[in-house]
Amino acid sequence: MSEYNKKALLAIAFLAGYPLTLPAADHFTAPPLTPLAEDGIHDPTNEAILTLQDPKRSMADFPKDRRGEVNWVEALNLGVIQPRKTNTGKAEDGDVMPELALDIIMNTTGEMPHVRFPHLAHTRWLACSNCHPDIFKAEDNGNPINMTKILRGEFCGRCHDKVSFSLWICERCHSVPHKNSPPAWWDTKK
Ligand code: HEC
Ligand code: HEC
Ligand code: HEC
Repeated sequence: MSEYNKKALLAIAFLAGYPLTLPAADHFTAPPLTPLAEDGIHDPTNEAILTLQDPKRSMADFPKDRRGEVNWVEALNLGVIQPRKTNTGKAEDGDVMPELALDIIMNTTGEMPHVRFPHLAHTRWLACSNCHPDIFKAEDNGNPINMTKILRGEFCGRCHDKVSFSLWICERCHSVPHKNSPPAWWDTKK
């Protein structure tokens, strides 16, 4: 499934007011920017596929991460995309999604840098109810999260590697070095 379709699915789930329940991880195995006819979602024999834009072309100028996936947080920051704040985009049509600027630092990470969970990067796209209370109790350090569960599709893994960036870019989550963590392997400027 292309990143574009993942985002579309997320947007539809959100707009339809569904709590985010997503298919199993193996459903989303297509690498970034896969042509629509090869993504396993679209019917390649249906002529209508020719009327849809190829994600490689439509997102050619979007900022990418080091795996070549669209960096949606950057795309939003740069104004490349402007998601709607209400169902129709007009302030009078529905509740405006609240944003919350609250970072949570998670430090049970062993030698990996600590994890900064940014509410802001999430609440620019998601409602509180997408996560609370079904995926996470709204309580600092109130959830038994670990990497194995995330890789199995629980907690952060309900979305990451599916509708949001891959779990293989460790440093986007493990972004807070501490005294026992290795040098920042992701900083290519050094
Ligand atoms: C989507 C965010 C995210 C990504 C991406 C991510 N992690 Fe984690 N990781 C976490 C969270 C959250 C925890 C739990 C932290 C806590 O509870 O204090 C964690 C915990 C860990 C731990 C501690 C031991 C354990 O089993 O929980 C290790 C080691 C770890 N991650 C390694 C990695 C590696 C290696 C990668 C890249 C291949 C990676 N992580 C990618 C979010 C992430
Ligand atoms: C993408 C998922 C997600 C969304 C969306 C989300 N949260 Fe959270 N929230 C979390 C996580 C993860 C934690 C930390 C849980 C932990 O440490 O075990 C948290 C913690 C909290 C806490 C506890 C903070 C503390 O210091 O004790 C509050 C309060 C909270 N969230 C409120 C909200 C509100 C209000 C919204 C909507 C504006 C919201 N959250 C949206 C995932 C989310
Ligand atoms: C309900 C879905 C959902 C859950 C659950 C979720 N995320 Fe996210 N996350 C997103 C989306 C959507 C974005 C923004 C789009 C993107 O970057 O893919 C995002 C962005 C982020 C970013 C911003 C990265 C940047 O470059 O600024 C971090 C860090 C992050 N998530 C970490 C986590 C961690 C850690 C957890 C678990 C504690 C978690 N997320 C749980 C959906 C989710």
